[in-house]
Amino acid sequence: AKITFVRRTGQQETVDAEMGTSVMEAALDNDIDEIVAECGGSMSCATCHVYVDDKDLGRLAPPSDTETAMLEGAAAPVKPSSRLSCQLTMTAGLDGITVFLPEEQY
Ligand code: FES
Repeated sequence: AKITFVRRTGQQETVDAEMGTSVMEAALDNDIDEIVAECGGSMSCATCHVYVDDKDLGRLAPPSDTETAMLEGAAAPVKPSSRLSCQLTMTAGLDGITVFLPEEQY
């Protein structure tokens, strides 16, 4: 499934991710180094913060309470579109999703 990452510069990178991988894993596999993912996907770091494009928000399952709580510790401002990319697992329904990379993860 395709994922488009929009860098802070506005540059876009579209990558192909296998079904079942997370947006965070796809970022690391493709050298999108704005995603730090210090905890490796165990929802305890918030350095995999992304902003999901408004057009795609309705396609996502809502965040868990733990995800919402962790996002409060994110370095960049938290918006309604903020998600932890390690919690976004690629399915056919998310093909073509666009995520914006935040200014900072620390
Ligand atoms: Fe640590 Fe997502 S990788 S919370």
